[in-house]
Amino acid sequence: MCGIVGITSSKEVTPRIISSLKKLEYRGYDSAGLATLSNGNINEVKCEGRVDALEKNIIQTKISGSIGIGHVRWATHGKPSSINAHPHSSEDVSVVHNGIIENSTILKKLLENKGYKFKSQTDTEVIVHLVTDYLKKNNLKNTIIKVLKKLHGSFALGIIFKDQPDLIVGARRGSPLAVGYGPNEHYLGSDSYALKSMTNKISYLNDGEFCILKKDQVEFFDADGTKVNKKILNLSKDDQNYEKGDYKYYMAKEIDEQPITLKNCVNEYIDKHNKEINIYNFPWKINEISSVILIGCGTAYHSCLVAKYWFEQNTSLDVRVDIASEFRYRKIKFKKDCLYVFVSQSGETADTFAALDLCKKNNVKTCAVVNVVESSIARDADLVLPIHCGPEVGVASTKAFLGQMLVLYLLCTKLSYEQKSINKKDYQKKIKDLLSLSKSAKNTLNIEDKIQTLGKDFANSKGSMFLGRGYSYPIALEGALKLKELAYVHAEGYPAGEMKHGPLALIEEGMPVVVIAPRDEHYKKTISNMQEVISRGAKVLLITNKSTDEIYSENIWEQIEVDAISDELIPFLTTIPLQKLAYYSALDKGYDIDKPRNLAKSVTVE
Ligand code: F6R
Repeated sequence: MCGIVGITSSKEVTPRIISSLKKLEYRGYDSAGLATLSNGNINEVKCEGRVDALEKNIIQTKISGSIGIGHVRWATHGKPSSINAHPHSSEDVSVVHNGIIENSTILKKLLENKGYKFKSQTDTEVIVHLVTDYLKKNNLKNTIIKVLKKLHGSFALGIIFKDQPDLIVGARRGSPLAVGYGPNEHYLGSDSYALKSMTNKISYLNDGEFCILKKDQVEFFDADGTKVNKKILNLSKDDQNYEKGDYKYYMAKEIDEQPITLKNCVNEYIDKHNKEINIYNFPWKINEISSVILIGCGTAYHSCLVAKYWFEQNTSLDVRVDIASEFRYRKIKFKKDCLYVFVSQSGETADTFAALDLCKKNNVKTCAVVNVVESSIARDADLVLPIHCGPEVGVASTKAFLGQMLVLYLLCTKLSYEQKSINKKDYQKKIKDLLSLSKSAKNTLNIEDKIQTLGKDFANSKGSMFLGRGYSYPIALEGALKLKELAYVHAEGYPAGEMKHGPLALIEEGMPVVVIAPRDEHYKKTISNMQEVISRGAKVLLITNKSTDEIYSENIWEQIEVDAISDELIPFLTTIPLQKLAYYSALDKGYDIDKPRNLAKSVTVE
């Protein structure tokens, strides 16, 4: 959440900061700003709204410089406005900040008592005045060490100084920060994605570290100021030019890419020749694991909920699922024979990262299922299982959800076979089914016309419900989440069997309800539950799979049939119409689908 970019160079930096900020906009888009140093002064331009608006201001004000920092904001302290936008500057320093300073109120009082005047409602401004204050009696390095020790909470910082014409300080605690290396210039970025158009040579700061960047030199230090040596990593250039192409929104493109991303991921893990799932570098023996806890937030958490059914059904492992923000504060009894699996598209989600950190401190086995392999979560876990989706830019997670489910399914299947909970024949049947999953996902995309019309009804409803049993229950949760976050319509996912214990009271004439009822062991029960909502006036969109068997139910409003594949893999297909439904509902309302209100991708604050 929030994005930082900084460049120190001998060339003009403003246009490149702007174009990197555009790439970072998925991290926050309520306001944006930029500061440069030129002619011995700090020049600052900020505005409410998007980077496009900032760009126009910059053209008007003509600010320039060969060193600068920029920021896109997702408001935490103080509403979105140009005053609260970053950078925050005094005459001497300018600061961009991701994260939350938890003791900002106390620090603000102390600084006000010393005569410092605050312009904004942000927590960040205390950093500006603290740095300014410490610089009066300390050199730059000691100032940074002392200021960082004063701050509680999480941060990634970029700081420039009036009296240091080619120097940027970066610092990290909790929020990610990367340094990029270019020809006679260096870069600072809140993730490597922002820097990829300028370099593929990157180093990451670890928690508690800070760095001093000059155009021809980079130094890293730990919290006490001791020098730290860093590896320079070479990033793959594959994702460098991930653009929308002919699509209006990234989300539409990312939904349509799913057959390809599933195929890529299957190809990465499955040895077709030997009919084998390969999980390379698995660091433990199978008898060292007797339970699994799957942890994530939001959509990633939903993928864990689906996986719970797979683990229960196919392995003899005890399996639990937890929301990262709950897990991290519970009094957990950590177990050496438990595998703690952290699922995250970005690999930077603050709660998931903190939950992983807790596990690391307790010295237990950790595994990361991530999309961004250079992320903090990937770097810290014992085992990394990438989902191979390529960049996901739309704030609402789509292809990553399918990728997360796929990798969890592969892990589960591999463990179940290693444990001898399933035999070779079943194991190879599952592999065969996986090899045709991409094709069925492609067939499921052909629902455009129907779903566009349905989107209107959902968009214009007072609220809706999504019902399912078994694997389809977490898919119902995911469908409801997508509709809420994109179309701003209240939607609730519910286990179909729970309706009569309360929520049935919500059903009224004309209310759209999605029922996910593939023809699995729950089918008949779910159809009965569907009948109960239809008889109370609901308009039901039934999502099921193709079959020659008739559906014994009347008055179904609309029906979508996905391919008939193995029951276990059906969630991959039933998800797709729900993603499209949310997309078209939001399109009908004219909302900005890739950047829904109040949200941001990569939630790096608690
Ligand atoms: C919903 C969505 C979020 C994320 C959640 C976790 O569409 O995208 O619920 O799934 O913020 O993000 P990651 O997977 O990056 O940890």
